[in-house]
Amino acid sequence: MIKIAVIPGDGIGKEVVAEGLKVLRKLEQLSNVKFDFQEYPFGAEHYLKTGETLPDWAIEEFRKFDAIYFGAIGDPRVKPGVLEHGILLKLRFSLDLYVNLRPVKLYHPKLTPLKEKEKIDMVFVRENTEGLYAGAGGFLRKGTPQEVAIQEMINTRYGVERTVRFAFEYAKKTGRKKVTLVDKANVLTYAHDLWQRVFAEVSEEYPEIETDHYYVDAMAMKMVRSPEIFEVVVTPNMFGDILTDLGAEIVGGLGLAASGNIHPRKVSMFEPVHGSAPDIAGKGIANPLAAILTASLMLEHLGLDKESKTVEKAVAKVIEENKVTPDLGGSLKTHEVGDAVVKVLEVLWDEGEAG
Ligand code: NAD
Ligand code: IPM
Ligand code: MN
Repeated sequence: MIKIAVIPGDGIGKEVVAEGLKVLRKLEQLSNVKFDFQEYPFGAEHYLKTGETLPDWAIEEFRKFDAIYFGAIGDPRVKPGVLEHGILLKLRFSLDLYVNLRPVKLYHPKLTPLKEKEKIDMVFVRENTEGLYAGAGGFLRKGTPQEVAIQEMINTRYGVERTVRFAFEYAKKTGRKKVTLVDKANVLTYAHDLWQRVFAEVSEEYPEIETDHYYVDAMAMKMVRSPEIFEVVVTPNMFGDILTDLGAEIVGGLGLAASGNIHPRKVSMFEPVHGSAPDIAGKGIANPLAAILTASLMLEHLGLDKESKTVEKAVAKVIEENKVTPDLGGSLKTHEVGDAVVKVLEVLWDEGEAG
């Protein structure tokens, strides 16, 4: 029995997680796998009702699960930062989920807005517990013309080294041959000097893997011009946040972007890259494929390779057949896309094409 904590959260988070769960439940019928899902109510509604974001007891409880499946949080009625820090970042930090693994993969050439791109297949290893997300901050003389707002950036050798090492290990494990470091060491001459030194040191342990480097501004350019040259990309927290939305867009959009918040030896948390999308929430048109691909990443992490790969194949197939939501040019509803994935999954399994 695989124990999964489920936090659907807010807005389209709830809508897309329902489809991810539908797919996982279908797998229970097709394969020998059994899940025990336990749902938690944390999110905007819960906060507005109780004043509670994410209590410490819940964090302790989550440690006992095999994985956490998360939708999205964020609500226009709540001040920005309250739910983001109080729930999502608290989970990442408290559970020490130091890598945010974000694949950028083109499932079909028709999905990219770029010209003449057939293959885009890179994986971001975003540092997930430090950087601009972790520093102290404050105001001086708040509200006066002399106001100063300070937001620190933290980079520790320990945090940088384990993330960079993860990137090389991931490349090795998945047969990728190059790791690219993205930083801004030409301006952040302390923080990212550390990144450069650590990257150079760790890379020596992996002589078979090629290394490469871009400053983040040039990386944004290069990802549009020649995304096919990247394999594994390792980068600090904030740059990883921004570049992976760009990455999502060059392979079809946020509706397809999956991620895992990972600690290799502790409970990890899987969530789509997108947020709660208040602009489309409640309309039944959110693309559930990011959440479904996120479920696939979770299955892979849990060692269920065949299940993971078959879900990914099923997603590729519904894209090929245009059984998709309006963001991908289709006319299906969220739940209809979930149903389509389930149907293909069944066929692949029956025809022995699973895995
Ligand atoms: P967003 O990712 O929610 O939406 C950006 C745009 O992409 C919107 O136009 C939205 O409609 C579209 N979009 C996103 N996911 C989609 C999907 N599955 N199908 C179709 N279209 C999709 O980002 P935002 O608007 O900047 O943020 C909204 C709220 O979500 C904020 O409160 C923000 O803090 C929060 N947020 C949460 C997470 C998370 O929980 N992991 C991630 C990002 C943003
Ligand atoms: C993401 C989101 C979060 C981040 C926010 C909501 C805290 O944008 O998961 O990409 O910045 O990491
Ligand atoms: Mn983001």
